[in-house]
Amino acid sequence: MACRICSGRLHPFADFGSQPLSDAFAAPGDPAEPFAFHLAAGVCAGCSTVQLLEEVPRERMFHADYPYLSSGSAVMREHFESLAKRLLTTELTGPDPFVVELGCNDGAMLAVIADAGVRHLGVEPSGGVADVAAAKGVRVRKDFFEAATAAAVLAEDGPADVVYAANTLCHIPYLDSIMEGLDTLLRPGGVFVFEDPYLGDIVERASFDQIYDEHFYYFSATSVRGLARRHGFELVDVERLPVHGGEVRYTLARQGARTPAPAVAELLAAEEAAALHEPATLRRFAARVAGTRDRLVTLLTGLRDQGARVYGYGATAKSATVLNYCGIGPDLITFVSDTTPAKQGRLTPGSHIPVRGPEAFADPYPDYAVLFAWNHAAEIMAKESGFGAAGGTWILYVPEVHLV
Ligand code: SAM
Ligand code: TMP
Ligand code: ZN
Repeated sequence: MACRICSGRLHPFADFGSQPLSDAFAAPGDPAEPFAFHLAAGVCAGCSTVQLLEEVPRERMFHADYPYLSSGSAVMREHFESLAKRLLTTELTGPDPFVVELGCNDGAMLAVIADAGVRHLGVEPSGGVADVAAAKGVRVRKDFFEAATAAAVLAEDGPADVVYAANTLCHIPYLDSIMEGLDTLLRPGGVFVFEDPYLGDIVERASFDQIYDEHFYYFSATSVRGLARRHGFELVDVERLPVHGGEVRYTLARQGARTPAPAVAELLAAEEAAALHEPATLRRFAARVAGTRDRLVTLLTGLRDQGARVYGYGATAKSATVLNYCGIGPDLITFVSDTTPAKQGRLTPGSHIPVRGPEAFADPYPDYAVLFAWNHAAEIMAKESGFGAAGGTWILYVPEVHLV
C-alpha cells in the first residue's frame, strides 16, 4: 500500500472490515447491494497524510442519485451564508470577481453569491443535487473537478479569485490533478479555501464514524502544508470550525504571494506536541474505538432484552461505519428518522434498518434514540425537545458512549 500523495509507505492503524457504500440507501425489495469494500485507514510515513487504504471509484459514490443535501441543517445553512458574506467583503471585492465552488451540492453557499450578483460557478458531479442548486439560481457545471475541468472553466470564464470547497476535497483521492487544476484556474493572487473534518478532532473525540468511503483523506495542518508545497502553494491560514464534529478551514495561496497567519505555526506546533501523526497515537485511537463499539453493542443489546424501544436519529453517511462495524441491525434499532427525502422509505446500507421521516419519530416517541447525527446535536435536541420532555433518552457514542 502506497500513499496516494507521495507514494510513501502507509502504516495501517484502523480496520472497520467490509463495508457498503455509505450513501447507498436501497429500496426494500431491491436486489442485494453488490458492492462492498475494505474500510481501513493508514498514515503515511513520508508526508503524514492519513488516508483510506482502498479507494472506491468516484462514479459509484457521486451520481445523479447522491442523496446528501447540504441545506438539511439550519446551522449549516447559516454557516455557508456567513462564509459567502465574508468572501464577498474580503476576497471578492475587485472588478468583476469570480468564485468557483467544488462540490457546491444544493447551493447552500453559492446561492448567496448568486443573489449578490457576483460571477460564480459550482462544479458538482452529482446531478440531482446540482439541479437543486440550479433551481436556486446557481450556475452549475455537472462535472467532477480535476485538471481538465479547470482548463475548460478557465477557457470559458477566465481565472478565479477564489476556489472554495467544503467537505469535498477530503472526498477526492486524485489530489495531484486537483492541485494542477488550481494552478491553472486561480489568478496569481487568488486563494483556495477549503474545510474538512480535522484529524486532531477525530483523534481527540474518537469520532471513528468520520471514517467512511467518501472521506478518503483526514487532513491536518501538517499534511495540508506538505500537499500545498508539493504543488507550489503555501498554507497561509487555518481556522478551527465547530461544524461537523470539528473541522479546519485551510487557505492556500501561491508560494510567496501571502504571509502565513500566526495561526498556521500555532496549529502545526500543537500537532507536533500531540504527536498527532505518530502510528502509536493513531493505534491508541483505534483501541478507544474498539471499546466504544463493545460498549454500544452491550448497551443496545441490553435495551432490546429489556423490551425498550430504540430508534436512530439521522441516517448519516457516518452511521454506515457505526452500524456495519458494530453489527447493529433492525433487531436493535427499529428505524432511523431522517429529513432527507431520497433516504426515506429506504434501508440503511448494509445494516438494512428502515429510514422514515421525522414525523414518525414522535409517533410515539421511543424510550431511547441513538443520535447518529451527533454533529448536529444542539440543533436536533432543540428541535426535538418533546422527546426529553416525554421521558426519552439520547444515546451518543462520541467521544464515548453516554446518555443525555
Ligand atoms: N459542499 C457541501 C457541504 O459542505 O455540505 C457538499 C458536501 S458533500 C459531502 C460532497 C460533495 O462533493 C458532493 O456533492 C459530491 O457530488 C461532490 N464531489 C465529489 N467529487 C467531486 C469532484 N471531483 N469535484 C467536485 N465535486 C465533487
Ligand atoms: P451529516 O451529518 O452528514 O450532515 O448528515 C446529517 C443527516 O441527518 C442527514 O441525512 C440529514 C439528517 N438530519 C435530520 O434528519 N434532522 C436534522 O435536524 C438534521 C440537522 C439532519
Ligand atoms: Zn505520503
